[in-house]
Amino acid sequence: MSEPVIKCENVYKIFGANAEKMLKDSNGNVDAKTFQENGCIVGVNNASFEVSKGEMLVVMGLSGSGKSTLLRCISRLTDATGGKIFIEGQDLLQLNNKDLIDLRRNKMGMVFQSFALLPHKTVVENIAFPLQIKGVKTEDSISKAMDMVKLVGLDGRENYFPRELSGGQQQRVGIARSLAVEPDIWFLDEPFSALDPLIRKEMQDEFLRLQEKLQKTIMFITHDFDEALKLADRIAIMKDGIIEQLDTPANIVLNPATEYVRKFTEEVPREKVLLIADVMDKTKDNLGDLKVSKDEIIENVAEKILTQEKSVAVVDNNNNIIGSINPTKIINTVFGGRKNNN
Ligand SMILES: Nc1ncnc2c1ncn2[C@@H]1O[C@H](COP(=O)(O)OP(=O)(O)OP(=O)(O)O)[C@@H](O)[C@H]1O
Ligand SMILES: [Mg+2]
Repeated sequence: MSEPVIKCENVYKIFGANAEKMLKDSNGNVDAKTFQENGCIVGVNNASFEVSKGEMLVVMGLSGSGKSTLLRCISRLTDATGGKIFIEGQDLLQLNNKDLIDLRRNKMGMVFQSFALLPHKTVVENIAFPLQIKGVKTEDSISKAMDMVKLVGLDGRENYFPRELSGGQQQRVGIARSLAVEPDIWFLDEPFSALDPLIRKEMQDEFLRLQEKLQKTIMFITHDFDEALKLADRIAIMKDGIIEQLDTPANIVLNPATEYVRKFTEEVPREKVLLIADVMDKTKDNLGDLKVSKDEIIENVAEKILTQEKSVAVVDNNNNIIGSINPTKIINTVFGGRKNNN
């Protein structure tokens, strides 16, 4: 099962009447400005990447950078102008309508930036609806939907209509509705953006807990770098339709590939992102008694390490010493890191 669940090869999405011709003539060298002068808007520019099973890829970037468009291409809500997209090895652009509907209904789940709830159905009916389309019996679908209502903290509101809910509550209905069908592949377009900070944090925690259990393959869009760092296995940073960098949170913070990426990472407290393994030394000499795991986030063990006089042993999962970290290194990481840029 090493095959990626999602695979994009040189995917382009260009809007405009001559999009296809212009893309062809450009030989894959798409310059957004030239295209715009010719009446085309570049949504996605040459995206190639893979997402493996159980992985959460977070897509970040400023407004208009192409995040939603990329997601819409992969869920085939819109057709890419060029390139190839494979879902579990199946060529998405070759699927006929029936197979596409099957794929959407049984494998993919989507939560949209706008809530897209059915106005004449109640909360619980909205959540049960996709299950009923799949052929689940009404009472079973309602009972499953009620579980989801509880999960997203809307019990007591199940018989309300969307217009009677706040934006954040509607968003939670959208999340619950999408979760109810238990999709293997889950696309979420800024699902938490309408929530206030406290509920947002709760939803993030809940989401991580669910993901730990369900191990879905996820593409998740956000504007919020803190959210990305908290949730992502890897982060893709987009600008003008181009994926500028796709890497682990630690590598993005440690080695931003471009100035634009660096700007995103500038304000990030490094100790919240980096693991001991990211900053440890290989030497194993002259260590004190304290041991820390290589997988600890620096923030969680910084204080302990700072009280030591000697270097602290870094151990792997089998408690074998694989290196060391000294208090100075921690001080440099916590207080010095952001000055080293440029
Ligand atoms: N249907 C369309 N027709 C023409 N241009 C479009 C269309 N959809 C998107 N675009 C353009 O493609 C670019 C990328 O848009 P997209 O919605 O993917 O951005 P985004 O990164 O999701 O932004 P946001 O964070 O604001 O949601 C923008 O310049 C947008 O104007
Ligand atoms: Mg968007």
